[in-house]
Amino acid sequence: MISTIYDTLNATDLDELEDIYKNWASEYEYDVIQLAGYVGHIITTDLLLKNLKNNNARILDAGCGTGLVGEILFENNFKNIEGVDFSEEMLSIADQKNIYKSLNLFDLTKKLTYSDNSFDAIICAGTFTCGHVGPESLVEMLRILKEGGFLCFTVRKQEWEAAPYMQILDKLMNSNSLKKIVHNTSGYNIKEGISCQLCLYQKTI
Ligand SMILES: C[S@@+](CC[C@H](N)C(=O)[O-])C[C@H]1O[C@@H](n2cnc3c(N)ncnc32)[C@H](O)[C@@H]1O
Repeated sequence: MISTIYDTLNATDLDELEDIYKNWASEYEYDVIQLAGYVGHIITTDLLLKNLKNNNARILDAGCGTGLVGEILFENNFKNIEGVDFSEEMLSIADQKNIYKSLNLFDLTKKLTYSDNSFDAIICAGTFTCGHVGPESLVEMLRILKEGGFLCFTVRKQEWEAAPYMQILDKLMNSNSLKKIVHNTSGYNIKEGISCQLCLYQKTI
């Protein structure tokens, strides 16, 4: 595994993690795509774009990083995209691409400042992973999603096995808040042999 990815997965707290992304931002895309074979941005956007038909859909890219997800959405004529991330340096690279309507510095483990029922879709690639954002944040994402809105995300294998994602998803489905559209295992950091759960859920109408 490339050393910076290892460091992000083993950060002891969010301050340490933020510091790693601060120093990594300019090399992030080369390292994850060329060295690790990261495809999280490709598999999530493929899945969402197969299901989201309205090009004016208001989309939140949660943990947008340098904007890999936003670029694909924009190229596919989905241009009503907002991004949030807790790293100023990652956001600054995303900002240079001129594809997001807004970019905001947010910690996704906290309550978000968006109103209930704000987004048609939330996409979160590569951010539900060890030491980053955990399954509790799904509940907050669901709050700001419109009824009928899509929640599309990856969860890295080790994180999926370590944290109660399935319990939280089951609880939300059992209370008729969410329904499963697609949920399967997918390649993630292909060159490192790492897989993820690739998920598309829909807020129940
Ligand atoms: C592996 S990168 C994925 C970035 C982008 N979605 C992609 O597919 O390339 C994880 C991102 O999550 C952000 N992040 C980590 N913890 C976070 C938190 N608690 N709140 C918001 N963003 C966070 C990092 O700054 C980083 O940009």
